[in-house]
Amino acid sequence: MKKIIIAIDGFSSTGKSTLAKQLASKLAYLYVDSGAMYRAVALYALQHGIINENQLSLDKLIASLSDIALTFVFNDALGYSEIYLNGQSVEQAIRTLEVSNAVSRIAEISEVRQKLVEIQRAMGYEKGLVMDGRDIGTVVFPQAELKLFMTASAEIRAQRRYEELCSKGEKVHFAQVLDNVQSRDRIDSTRKDSPLRKASDAIVIDNTELGVEAQFEKVFSLVQTTLEEA
Ligand code: CDP
Repeated sequence: MKKIIIAIDGFSSTGKSTLAKQLASKLAYLYVDSGAMYRAVALYALQHGIINENQLSLDKLIASLSDIALTFVFNDALGYSEIYLNGQSVEQAIRTLEVSNAVSRIAEISEVRQKLVEIQRAMGYEKGLVMDGRDIGTVVFPQAELKLFMTASAEIRAQRRYEELCSKGEKVHFAQVLDNVQSRDRIDSTRKDSPLRKASDAIVIDNTELGVEAQFEKVFSLVQTTLEEA
């Protein structure tokens, strides 16, 4: 059967990766979390004193890009690929609120985007790929056969992310998480390079009142129709 590329974009914490993992596992496709790549660069910048709450050293970051190697390694137990930064799994370390608070400032930088988009495009060469992010349907794979754009109310998104962080033992307040979700949406949507926007041919999935399974059923039928037409 013909293989396609599924591009999933949308606002922060809309459950893009949950849906993308479900689709990839059902279709036996590769799943790539492009946000994890931006998060890994942000983690590197935090670890090397390149970014803090108030400052970002642009020159240092650009000079360091050639020292940042990102790879995905399939984890059988998890059923999806984990991201490695310079040979070390950082799948857990990139999910903290500290990284979330730095990542959108890192993702505004064109030199960072160029490097990551090049790696992302190479992973789509043979199709059979589900990738989620902010610019997948607009910039990385404008030719993707199926494009989804995910949204939900900011309160619902922050609540889901808050519960996720608490369940991992991170000590955070709901207000901090809501603030992060809203400020990332603002930076991601207004940046100059590859802002978050819906591709004209993307299908909007609003999951404010849609559960994970119902959402999957809905999207999987879109996938089937797309595969029949491909
Ligand atoms: O928290 P959530 O899962 O919604 O975000 P993510 O997918 O992990 O992405 C983290 C951040 O990386 C976003 O807020 C964007 O600033 C940036 N990003 C991007 O600019 N372009 C992408 N294709 C993916 C993520």
